[in-house]
This record gives sequence, structure tokens and C-alpha cells, in this order.
Amino acid sequence: MNSDYIKLQEALKCIREKTDFVPEVALILGSGLGALADEIQQEASVDYSEIKGFPVSTVPGHKGRFVFGYIGDVKVVVMQGRVHYYEGYSLSDVVLPTRLMGMMGAKVLFLTNAAGGANLDFNAGDFMLIRDHIMAFFPNPLVGPNIDELGPRFPDMSEIYDRELRGIIKATAGKLDIPLKEGVYVQFTGPSFESPAEVRMASMAGGDAVGMSTACEAVAAKHMGLRVCGISCISNKAAGLAENPLSHEEVQESADRVAPLFKSLVKTSIENMGRVL
Ligand code: HPA
Repeated sequence: MNSDYIKLQEALKCIREKTDFVPEVALILGSGLGALADEIQQEASVDYSEIKGFPVSTVPGHKGRFVFGYIGDVKVVVMQGRVHYYEGYSLSDVVLPTRLMGMMGAKVLFLTNAAGGANLDFNAGDFMLIRDHIMAFFPNPLVGPNIDELGPRFPDMSEIYDRELRGIIKATAGKLDIPLKEGVYVQFTGPSFESPAEVRMASMAGGDAVGMSTACEAVAAKHMGLRVCGISCISNKAAGLAENPLSHEEVQESADRVAPLFKSLVKTSIENMGRVL
């Protein structure tokens, strides 16, 4: 059997020794957004360090645990802190948590991140509903022997970000009076921020936001047949579009500043997804 699949099954076994909670929605919290996990009606939590073979994040501001519980009537598993390719993990480790949440039973993956705005109309503090992504500047997480137990060798990617879920998020933002931009997320490897020329390239290619996560997780989830949606918190104008050099501190500060609004948008969207699950 595929060694990545064996690793996933062992990780699932560790989870199942701690909780038999079966989530409907899997939520990945990005930079500065981890506090949302403290607000859900918590049933159980499992530290990543307790899971055999699990990649543990090294980035400040990224806690490492799964939180299980309810948002409204919806059963969720929340990843408080994700792992990134730039930390040095193999891509199969980077997407292991996503796959694991699918194997726990989640039918929907809700992705969040902090991202740089490549679209000139975007400002720090804006939210962007992810309509599609460009992962062409990043290795594909499905390279290698296919895990047939999870999905097909050549999965379709013509609608990665589910139309109905996008509609629910848009309607929720409208009801909450939270302005919501929409656009294409471009994943780079990091950890250096992009050069201005790379940002221009991303923009000319049709991208609106640039970041170091998310698209590979979306592809791994879509491969397994999960319904995917996501929102970027635009924490800064991307390189070359702002006056000042970029810093991780700036990213975190902006994300922290709008975190309350972001949290209510994500929470209420998930509550509203209850009717389509
Ligand atoms: N580039 C890449 N990743 C990011 C950025 C950025 O400008 N802001 C937050 N994450």
C-alpha cells in the first residue's frame, strides 16, 4: 500500500484513540486567525505533537492543534495552525493534515489565509473570496504515486472552489455588511516575499492575491472529492505596490486588526452552510 496512505491511516488511528467526533466541515486557520478556534463550542482537541508522523509548524503565531466542536449546528474540525512548504516539509506532509480531516469525515474544506494584495484595488484589511487559484509556480502535491484510496490520478480542477459555498459566503458577507472582494489566489513557495516583478507577473496572469499556502491544500482536498471554499485576508499590498518593505510583523498586525470581522464572517458562513451539508 502507498506509504503516504499508511502514514495517514496511522495518524487517523491516533486521532480516533482520542475522539470519535466526525466533522462535517474542516476549517484551516491562517496567520493571525487562530483565535477563532477558542470561540467554537469545543468538544475535544488534539495537539499535533500527539499524532504519529504529523508535521509540526515552526512559525510564530501558528499554534498546533485540531479543535473539534460546533459552529452553530455544524460539526467542525479546526486546524489551529497549518504547516507550510517553506518550513522544509515534503508536500505530502504539507497536505497530510488536509487529507486527514477528509478521512475523519469532513465533506467541506474551508481555507483561510493572510495574503498580499496584487490587485491594485485591494487594500490591507480587505477580505477576498477565493474564486480560483494559480498553483503553476508551486509544485503539485499530487505528484508521485497516486493514492487510489483517496481519488483519481487525473482529478478535474475546473471548479476547485465550490460555486454553492461561494454563494453562501457572499450572501453571508452581504447580510453582515462586510465588504467582500473576490479573486484569484496565487501560491508561491515563500519564505521570501515575492519580488515586485513576480507580483506583476501574478497580476498579469490573472491573480489578485499572493501567498504561501492554500492552493496545494485545495488541490489535495479536491482530489479526495471534498467541496472547497476559502477566504484571504489581505494583510498588505504585495511587494512593489506599497511604500514600505514587507515584514511578517506587518502581516500579523493587519490580520489581528481585522480578525474580529473575519471571525464573524467565517463563523456565520459555516453556520449558513449547515443547510447544504
Ligand atoms: N506575500 C506572500 N504571502 C503573504 C503576503 C505577501 O505579500 N502577505 C501575507 N502572506
